[in-house]
Amino acid sequence: MVGVDLRRRRNAWKHLSLTALFVRTYAGSSFLGGTLRSFRRLLQRTPLYGAYKVLGHYPDYWYWLLRGRPLRSPHLLKQRVVREYGEKFGLKTLVETGTYYGEMVAAMKRRFDRIYSIEYAPALAERAARKFAAHENIRIFCGDSRVVMPEVLKLLKAPALFWLDAGYYGWVGKRGDQQRLSAELEMILSHPFRHVILLDDARGLTGRDGIPSVGDVKAHVESNFPQRSVEVEYDIMRITLRE
Ligand SMILES: C[S@@+](CC[C@H](N)C(=O)[O-])C[C@H]1O[C@@H](n2cnc3c(N)ncnc32)[C@H](O)[C@@H]1O
Repeated sequence: MVGVDLRRRRNAWKHLSLTALFVRTYAGSSFLGGTLRSFRRLLQRTPLYGAYKVLGHYPDYWYWLLRGRPLRSPHLLKQRVVREYGEKFGLKTLVETGTYYGEMVAAMKRRFDRIYSIEYAPALAERAARKFAAHENIRIFCGDSRVVMPEVLKLLKAPALFWLDAGYYGWVGKRGDQQRLSAELEMILSHPFRHVILLDDARGLTGRDGIPSVGDVKAHVESNFPQRSVEVEYDIMRITLRE
């Protein structure tokens, strides 16, 4: 009975995801696209938006596979990388910059003993704080990650995993601070604990208009912190301890 129930639930989930994949793929600029966009805007104002986004992760992932794994990686893959690095390095605390709708926090809340997440936009930070209010191990900070980071670092009692995802180059938020990423990397890497850092959207490191390139960041980190190595895979920069 339990097996049949499970199979039914799995099938229902699969159909729902395939429908969402179809809608996402064919929505385009058609009438369906416009309706979907209006629907999404409406949902954004409700607490259901988180669930809607989670539902979208599966079709996004399959669509990404279907397109031959383009550079921009889907959220499910990012979740997998965060989970894997937490496990591999035995890290029990996750620090995130850029909470957004709290999707990474929600996905990791049972994987880490403690989660600190920093969000610049007050409306998003308040929303996330409300969403996770029942979880004593989750704390949402509102502010510029560069300013709030020292406060978070003071709370740490052991090495942590950092998920730097506050749109350092090209996301809406506090613009004009080209040094924010290097300032945060410096703070984290100089902290007494041997933290592990994942930086999302490495493709933003273009090496143009005052933005460092991946090579610049790698050279800077590896020369100033020789025990660290820097790799990029699936658009995620990974700063770990040398084996
Ligand atoms: C790509 S989203 C984060 C997605 C989220 N980390 C996840 O995995 O689901 C980027 C977020 O960074 C926030 N942000 C932008 N500038 C920031 C800053 N200076 N400090 C903190 N958050 C910032 C934006 O408001 C936005 O919510």
